[in-house]
Amino acid sequence: MNPKAVRLLAVDDSPSTLEVIQRILKSAGYDTRTCHSVVEAVSALSRTPFDLVITDYKMPKHSGMDLIQYVHENHQDTAVIMVTGYATIDGAVEAVKKGAETYLAKPFTDQELLTAVEEALEKLARRRNVQTEAQPSMFHDIIGTSPGMQHVFKLIDKAAAMNVNVMISGESGTGKELVARAIHYGGPRSAAPFVPVNCTAIPDSLLESELFGHVKGAFTGANTSRAGFFQIAENGTIFLDEIGDASLNLQGKLLRAIQSKEIFMVGSSTVQKVDTRIIAATHKDLPTLVQKGLFREDLYYRLNIIDISIPPLRDRKEDVPALVNYFVTQFCQDIGRKPPTFTDRALDALINHSWPGNIRELENLLQRLLVIVDGDLIDSGDFPDSMRLNIDTAQSGSRSLAEVEAEHILKVLAVVGGNKTQAAEILGIDRKTLREKLKKIRP
Ligand SMILES: Nc1ncnc2c1ncn2[C@@H]1O[C@H](COP(=O)(O)OP(=O)(O)OP(=O)(O)O)[C@@H](O)[C@H]1O
Ligand SMILES: [Mg+2]
Repeated sequence: MNPKAVRLLAVDDSPSTLEVIQRILKSAGYDTRTCHSVVEAVSALSRTPFDLVITDYKMPKHSGMDLIQYVHENHQDTAVIMVTGYATIDGAVEAVKKGAETYLAKPFTDQELLTAVEEALEKLARRRNVQTEAQPSMFHDIIGTSPGMQHVFKLIDKAAAMNVNVMISGESGTGKELVARAIHYGGPRSAAPFVPVNCTAIPDSLLESELFGHVKGAFTGANTSRAGFFQIAENGTIFLDEIGDASLNLQGKLLRAIQSKEIFMVGSSTVQKVDTRIIAATHKDLPTLVQKGLFREDLYYRLNIIDISIPPLRDRKEDVPALVNYFVTQFCQDIGRKPPTFTDRALDALINHSWPGNIRELENLLQRLLVIVDGDLIDSGDFPDSMRLNIDTAQSGSRSLAEVEAEHILKVLAVVGGNKTQAAEILGIDRKTLREKLKKIRP
């Protein structure tokens, strides 16, 4: 955006800070209005539209958090940067979760402020584009138009921009690793390695050497020195997969390394600084494991700074057609065949299946079908028995009216690619009614 065209508002109770902000922004060509309190800012916002608000966190009476909440609820087209002198990551993360574009710790350099402003404006521009273009159905190779996935995309964007640990949860096959990669490759660490570590697969005896590496002669058989995951992922990301299955031994070692950001190679007494971001994933319910004493609470809180929970496929059936289309196009390209057409019955069956194995199950099923079925048409009769059973129950008369209605609504939504206006028109109800019905279907 052209600096001259940007409307900026800075809010801080300290006049000297406001002066500094104004001076820095002026040097880059921005005109900035200033306010000394949240009340003043709210009144300014109600009179003039602003593109970006830069607000202090700690102010008497109303805090920057209150302002973020107000902007989020009333001025969705305005971006916010939270400036905090109490650079507690918790407050800043909370601010970003509540809707701030990013945060800035005091004291900041001229360049840091300008970069934050530019990034926030870029994100705002992207958001405005998306709103006018239609929802993106694909994001870093992840398909999903459902509200659940759109929320996941937003969190990925935020997590990518912040250097904090992330916990991803979701049933098997929901795309946890895909999301972890999107966070890594979408952020400033993308040039450094993404190192997946399967926490179930490391034998206890090799734990330390696998994680932290070893020097030559550290133990019998250690003929050369070898880097561990933490060194390989220097400046990058370690992806701790199946963290819920990590032994207490492993948990303790991870906690120490994450807390101190320092490690010792096995056989060495020299401490090494490490800089890695941790993304952990699990299909287990970690809070329950914590309660049972099987997972360390302190480690849980260290990892769970941002938590992303991926909904199972059965809760976002409207994503099925787009996923089918995506996988079929991909496989057919790979094996060099013309993409077949799915009959309505086949597509219905796919949408209505409960998908206990989630996207992976769908991916595998389609792969198998494309190899087995030669013709141009795929019908539900081509599906394996396990799927047909599902179709039979789906077509049996044992369902309530509400179930049938819910299914029909989702089907129509899927057909129009998630467009609620079109869906409402087809269903013969207004958008508001549709929204209310959807809320009941997937609260
Ligand atoms: N939204 C999506 N769009 C496209 N492909 C997807 C999506 N979600 C998952 N996949 C694909 O499904 C497969 C399973 O995904 P992934 O390995 O990330 O799941 P996971 O949650 O890590 O599973 P597990 O718990 O079994 O390890 C992969 O091939 C992935 O590319
Ligand atoms: Mg996985």
